[in-house]
Amino acid sequence: MNTGKVDVLLGLQWGDEGKGKVVDVLTPHYEVIARFQGGPNAGHTLEFEGQKYVLRSIPSGIFQGDKVNIIGNGVVLAPDLFMAEAKELEKSGHSLKNRLLISKKAHLIMPTHRVLDAAIEASKGKSKVGTTGKGIGPTYTDKVSRTGLRVGDILEDFPQKYAAHKAQHEKTLRSLNYTDYDITEVEKTWMEGIEYLKQFTIVDSEHEVNRVLTSGKNILAEGAQGTMLDVDFGSYPFVTSSNTICAGACTGLGIGPNKIGEVFGIMKAYCTRVGAGPFPTELFDETGKTIRDLGHEYGAVTGRERRCGWIDLVQLRYSVMINGVTKLIMMKSDVLDGFSTIKACVAYEMPDGSTTTELPYDISQVKPIYKELPGWKTDMTGFTDESQFPQAFKDYVAFLEDFLGTPIAIISIGPDRAQTIIRQ
Ligand code: GDP
Ligand code: IMO
Ligand code: MG
Repeated sequence: MNTGKVDVLLGLQWGDEGKGKVVDVLTPHYEVIARFQGGPNAGHTLEFEGQKYVLRSIPSGIFQGDKVNIIGNGVVLAPDLFMAEAKELEKSGHSLKNRLLISKKAHLIMPTHRVLDAAIEASKGKSKVGTTGKGIGPTYTDKVSRTGLRVGDILEDFPQKYAAHKAQHEKTLRSLNYTDYDITEVEKTWMEGIEYLKQFTIVDSEHEVNRVLTSGKNILAEGAQGTMLDVDFGSYPFVTSSNTICAGACTGLGIGPNKIGEVFGIMKAYCTRVGAGPFPTELFDETGKTIRDLGHEYGAVTGRERRCGWIDLVQLRYSVMINGVTKLIMMKSDVLDGFSTIKACVAYEMPDGSTTTELPYDISQVKPIYKELPGWKTDMTGFTDESQFPQAFKDYVAFLEDFLGTPIAIISIGPDRAQTIIRQ
């Protein structure tokens, strides 16, 4: 039988690659857009017609056509933040009614999960992860410990269930000596959020997803964070608490691996990271600052400065392998438009002096070995076709494709939806 496919779009670096923008660009080709992991730690930015939107929990497929969007079972949802996000969208004329499905199996981020996030970070002293503070780790911890609250729980005896879970969290907080917090106001809004959620279609979304596929229609799965933040394959322990990789789309939506079609791996033409943890190509000099300024590299969720560095092809080749990437998408190439020389990390020098092109277990002590490439020194932000690309840029693209063994299908040359070159 000819079933539809799930194409997966996911980050190959440490997040913020530009996933939201490209999901929006690709939306017209799909019937359904679905988030499969993460939560409001994500900040996905889109720009079109002079408007800018930042989405956290709602998929980026809500702006083009009347597509159905799904918050899958692998997502963790904060009702209060979701309500604020949905109301904001409604105000700007983008109603989600009748086209947003929420999985009953998605876990709820409680106010006390956020307090726990802060308490655990505080207890770590110098080895803080630098989380977004959204309660992501504690919520996934409860899920895996089999003590979580799910969206499906709001439909019956919810106050009792909530009180029992909250009491458990309070006990843990006391054991951490973290008692100086007040969630009274937040809790009120959170409970309003619970009621607000009920107007959306709360379902076993795995059935819906598979029905769509059986009818021969295609789904785009929107990843959050990036491969280097994956709880199994990222720079552990400086990672998030979910599987951000392609396999996460199977568990986070309830689809078989044979239903996966294209795997779109998205990367910046350079690299950024927010929060703590190793970052081999990080630049601490003027070049790093220039990239941050030109790329407006400040977090969409927390406003934190993003750490900036050169593209790391050792790391990217690993991400391509782990995800089975079939097509690459390169973002923010315009940020490098003015550079005379561009560097790309092609190997690591290990602490013992040996070199490797395979991502090692510990990347905190490696030194990047760079290849230098000539810059293109051309403003590409107004280009509409790949034939306009200067030769030096074409050479850079060909070099990346060759090193990563994967074609670059889309090149982004600015934040706007229109600043996107789809290659033939
Ligand atoms: P996401 O989390 O992967 O969706 O990415 P973010 O939205 O957190 O960060 C990407 C940032 O880069 C946003 O501010 C986008 O508006 C912006 N952006 C996306 N593509 C481009 C591009 O090609 N050029 C430039 N200059 N900015 C871009
Ligand atoms: P999008 O989807 C960049 C980082 C945090 C921290 C670590 C763990 O916009 O690409 P968490 O709150 O998840 O427990 O934090 O992960 N982080 C992100 N960095 N983009 C994101 O999402 C991120 N989501 C989490 O900064 O280092
Ligand atoms: Mg982001």
